[in-house]
Amino acid sequence: MSKAAEQYPVGIIGGTGLTTLSGLEITGERPVETVWGAPSAPLVEGSLGDQPVVFLSRHGNPHRIPPHQVNYRANLQALYEAGVRTVVGVNAVGGIHPDMGPAHVVIPDQIIDYTWGRPSTFFEGDLEEVTHIDFTWPYDADARETLVAAAASLGVSFSDFGVYGATQGPRLETAAEIRRMERDGCDLVGMTGMPEAVLAAELGMRYVCLGLVVNWAAGKSDHIITMAEIEEAIDKGMSSVKGMLEMSMAG
Ligand code: HPA
Repeated sequence: MSKAAEQYPVGIIGGTGLTTLSGLEITGERPVETVWGAPSAPLVEGSLGDQPVVFLSRHGNPHRIPPHQVNYRANLQALYEAGVRTVVGVNAVGGIHPDMGPAHVVIPDQIIDYTWGRPSTFFEGDLEEVTHIDFTWPYDADARETLVAAAASLGVSFSDFGVYGATQGPRLETAAEIRRMERDGCDLVGMTGMPEAVLAAELGMRYVCLGLVVNWAAGKSDHIITMAEIEEAIDKGMSSVKGMLEMSMAG
């Protein structure tokens, strides 16, 4: 993310299991308001190593906003106004690909969006012109490379590819829905990857996803999905995620 320290702060949007970031040297916490409303939580400003960072808890702190009710537009707008131009979205996901089991880390390279009814563009209302942004490659190549290098040097179990299927939630999927997603080419399933990625793109920000697999997707194991299983994988895998964030900011 940073070659020496990037001049702009890097935004980190923490998801399930990452409502606070322990390695962060905090310099301030700011409740903010945007034209799209309030973001999920106050912006936590500080630094990781030499890199200025703005941390935002996607589901609020404490965790209380479900994926379909996150104000993604306010979150991205608030980060943009705080000077952020590169965003790392940390996402808990379910694993579909056979190599992507609990506690595995994935830096996906593509998205399929199955969400519906979420405000997912800044370009609406009384516009002077219609805008269609390019979204061929939803994740920033350089930021992906930085995360991949960090995962490799930390010896983390990770994959440097993957199609993130974004579902509506808050319920988990049926086994048939996961089979359909697999036929579509999805390797991972999560509820928060969209519209976060596209809103970052609309603001011209670089965006990358750091996915932590917290369960086998529905029908991919011999048991139903439990919160206990998810919490266990978060406990096991979140130190890899934090290590990767610290290392990638250190440049
Ligand atoms: N499905 C959707 N979202 C998720 C899952 C899942 O299995 N696990 C974590 N987030």
